[in-house]
Amino acid sequence: MMIGDVISDSGLNIVEKMLPSFIQKYELDFVIANGENLHEGRGLNEEMIKRLYGAGVNVITGGNHSFDKHKIFPYMATDKRLLRPLNYPKGNPGYGYGVYDIPNGKGKVGVLNLQGRTFMYPIDCPFRTSDWIIDKIKQESQVLFVDFHADASAEKVAMGWYLNGKVSAVLGTHTHTPTADERILSEGTAYISDVGMTGAYDSVIGMKKEAAMKRFVLGTPSKYESATEDNHFASVIVKVELATGKAKNIQRLFFPEFDK
Ligand SMILES: [Fe+2]
Repeated sequence: MMIGDVISDSGLNIVEKMLPSFIQKYELDFVIANGENLHEGRGLNEEMIKRLYGAGVNVITGGNHSFDKHKIFPYMATDKRLLRPLNYPKGNPGYGYGVYDIPNGKGKVGVLNLQGRTFMYPIDCPFRTSDWIIDKIKQESQVLFVDFHADASAEKVAMGWYLNGKVSAVLGTHTHTPTADERILSEGTAYISDVGMTGAYDSVIGMKKEAAMKRFVLGTPSKYESATEDNHFASVIVKVELATGKAKNIQRLFFPEFDK
């Protein structure tokens, strides 16, 4: 399972409440969660990281907010289950990929975190970065999940096709809005443009509506605060054949569904 951007306490609370039962119900072998927004929407701290692990998350991925709280930098160097995008320039703390044992002894899972550049920081090229790292990871694990943290849907779709057949799944994060384009690409790579946000939806992508609307209406800064109401859990479940690393199925799990 990949859980989309977990935002603030609201997101953490619903993960803690629901994930243990989802692990049982859907017989999940491995859980990845994007956690770059855990601390009031920006960055993360050790206590929150431990809470995600405690709920059943195996690996935490990141994005443009991974580096917002500098107090976490020393910890980032010690925890290989905490990832941030690999394609940041050399010299930044933390890990951009890892290969992990599936806890039930079934095999290994590689996880790679990349970040897009369109409408984002002009960091190293995520496509060229994937060129050199994927072969290295696949020497250890055929199963390889990519969290592609990016803004533009075209860049995400392009990455899906670029990595088609090379990885098990390309799963988009960052926009906080779940998309309905989950599918298995022609060479066995599961794809979705954005898994969506896990947190409070009575909000503008996780932040209280009033400040967000004011920013747009007035065109000037206004202090963001995390929203707390109408929590939803946004995720996808991908079934992968261990021997080949090919994806067999991808399904969205958004809970509870919106009122319609
Ligand atoms: Fe982000």
